[in-house]
Amino acid sequence: MSLKDTVLRALLENKEIYISGENLAKGKSVSRNAVWKVIQDLRSEGYVIEASSKKGYRLIDSDVLSEEEIQALIQSPYIPEVSVYNSIDSTNNEAKRRAAIGSKEPQLILANAQTGGRGRLGRSFYSPQKTGLYMSMLYRTNAPIESTVTITTAASVAVALSIEEMCDKKTSIKWVNDVYIEDKKVCGILTEALVGLDGGSENTIIVGIGVNITTNKFPSELTEKAAGTGKLNGPRNELAARIYNKLIKYAKLPKDKSYMDEYRKRSNLIGKKISITNDGERIIGLAAGISDDGGLIFLPDGCEISEVLRSSSISVRLLE
Ligand code: BTN
Repeated sequence: MSLKDTVLRALLENKEIYISGENLAKGKSVSRNAVWKVIQDLRSEGYVIEASSKKGYRLIDSDVLSEEEIQALIQSPYIPEVSVYNSIDSTNNEAKRRAAIGSKEPQLILANAQTGGRGRLGRSFYSPQKTGLYMSMLYRTNAPIESTVTITTAASVAVALSIEEMCDKKTSIKWVNDVYIEDKKVCGILTEALVGLDGGSENTIIVGIGVNITTNKFPSELTEKAAGTGKLNGPRNELAARIYNKLIKYAKLPKDKSYMDEYRKRSNLIGKKISITNDGERIIGLAAGISDDGGLIFLPDGCEISEVLRSSSISVRLLE
């Protein structure tokens, strides 16, 4: 382990408590100056570290994305490779690049900012520096490619529960993948599936999750619709790990659908009049329910038989 990793781990394990330079280096025979340089390095990454000539160093609550901190919070038999970027075009794009070269799975890719964040239906996703969680999970599965709607549903539940655990606000979910607080969207999810890339039966699934946390200034076209969750009672690392822990469980145990109850409880569409638009065609009807595989049960006006919608290219509007 490098001196920097050793020092960071010691600071994280002793948050808010002073620890001497010697203890920080955990017995490594290094100079005070080497420790000081590492502290400066960590500060430049955003860690807030106080120094006292008598007591040593202490880490003040810092919201710095860290591969090591996320790894330490993972509670799953499926340990991901975690990668953090300061800025990237899109974490989903990076996941695709890795999939193309056959990288191992599962992977968790995060960035402090995205310059080309992507949303559903060809939209962009506003991803300013450090005010949100922008992450993609890549995993492989034998489940059929059509089941992406199911994993998107699962991801919405993982995000909604994790946000609620980290603040005292209630969330709701708009089919299929938008998480709301009150009437503003705080999270969007973009799931992309790549069919049997290596010629095998396994498909690669990329679940991209964007949560607005402290973002409070949005481009004008979003100000009415989007908001941040507000400050959470823990760092983004914790939110990332909480989401991953839940989502990987839902993804790797696809037969256990108990999370669907949590989804239905939070659905802001069930029982409401909605319009759906698909390929330019707009139909009005009732959102009658959500099927166990995450499809929207839709009863068009004037019809007696409902249909189950699963396509991610459908856009839904609440009419009441
Ligand atoms: C939507 O609201 O339509 C979906 C937005 C998904 C945004 C996330 S942020 C991390 C990942 N990388 C992307 O480019 N998009 C997803």
